[in-house]
Amino acid sequence: MRIIVGVTGGIAAYKATSIIRQLTEAGHSVKVIPTANALRFIGATTLEALSHNTVDPDLYTDVDSVKHVALGQEADLVLVAPATAAFLGRYAAGIADDLLLNTLLVTKAPVVVAPAMHTEMWNHPSTQENVATLEERGVRVMVPAEGRLTGADYGIGRLPEPEEIVKFALANYPVSSLAGKHFVVTAGGTQEPIDPVRFIGNHSSGKQGIAIAREAKARGARVTLIAANLEDSNEFDAQLNVHTAAELQAAVAATLSEATVLVMTAAVSDFKVANGAEQKLKRAELFAEQSSIQITLEQNPDILADAVAQLAADNSKCITVGFAAETAGGEALEKFAQHKLASKGCHILVANDVSNGAVFGAETNDTLILTKSGRAVSAKGSKALVAAELLDVIESELA
Ligand code: C5P
Repeated sequence: MRIIVGVTGGIAAYKATSIIRQLTEAGHSVKVIPTANALRFIGATTLEALSHNTVDPDLYTDVDSVKHVALGQEADLVLVAPATAAFLGRYAAGIADDLLLNTLLVTKAPVVVAPAMHTEMWNHPSTQENVATLEERGVRVMVPAEGRLTGADYGIGRLPEPEEIVKFALANYPVSSLAGKHFVVTAGGTQEPIDPVRFIGNHSSGKQGIAIAREAKARGARVTLIAANLEDSNEFDAQLNVHTAAELQAAVAATLSEATVLVMTAAVSDFKVANGAEQKLKRAELFAEQSSIQITLEQNPDILADAVAQLAADNSKCITVGFAAETAGGEALEKFAQHKLASKGCHILVANDVSNGAVFGAETNDTLILTKSGRAVSAKGSKALVAAELLDVIESELA
């Protein structure tokens, strides 16, 4: 889910860090919009590092992208924590004088606010009236907790614990646009054994594939993760653990007839070792009479292309998504991507430039999403954000 976290200028602003961390760890794409006063309490750098997204609260930068409209329209949920009395007043009155308020006036997404202030301010009739106005308009206001306040005083007005805020925000607004759909997502990298100890592998960490699987799950889909050399988890409806391309192909074949969408994020080896050794190869024996050995590599099947052919033969409506890791950017990347979209025969192709160690293992990605129907979408940011953009494209293909 794409979540905007608004942070306003109260002492509890530091607690937003924990909220942001919990949301990103749960696989959500988080964009933080602090107010100018919030930045007196907490730095933009901290917010950027935790959200894996840029933080630029200035309404007057990137004016050509009309960012408050884009942010408001793209959000699935907006959470403002902490929300000060001043913020509640400006929101209730529609005073859109900064990026956060502008975004809030654009968005049609559900909005949750978590106020925090001194007891007298919370109980003041103007605050209570503002809260009532916002609630009448559908904003969910979390009642502050009772406890120790900034000074020596005690009472209602404390920001609830970050865990409670996250739970409240997510529980109130489950997204179910993909209910009834079954996503089969491959993630990770295959390993082709040379002997029982060594293998030929690749640098794929599985992070992008897992982010896609999480996003599909968050939107209500049933998700089967085909995990190539990844850790076990209970996050998805099913997880099939595989090591080699042959095992990955068998897992795809076993799930394909029930899939609504097949997302082939895994980095699959194009070759395997012919006659892999049953026993560990021993250095002394290998190099007794020679200083080099030869390993013969044999072609692996193209799993995605085979799956696309099988689905066509079955008259299936399953949407297929391929990935292309290239060592090129710009126009060259687009050219490779167009070519791969056609050669694989899939509906959607996600291309990225992996030169200079970018992407593999990183928290962010910079991609070009192409569809057979002619759409081209650039998606850049956290892997959760790229997953959300891709899921939007998949949803429109499904529609
Ligand atoms: O041709 P290339 O390896 O760049 O294609 C990448 C896409 O094809 C990915 O979606 C990957 O999962 C898939 N693939 C495959 N079988 C292979 C190699 C790649 O399905 N043998």
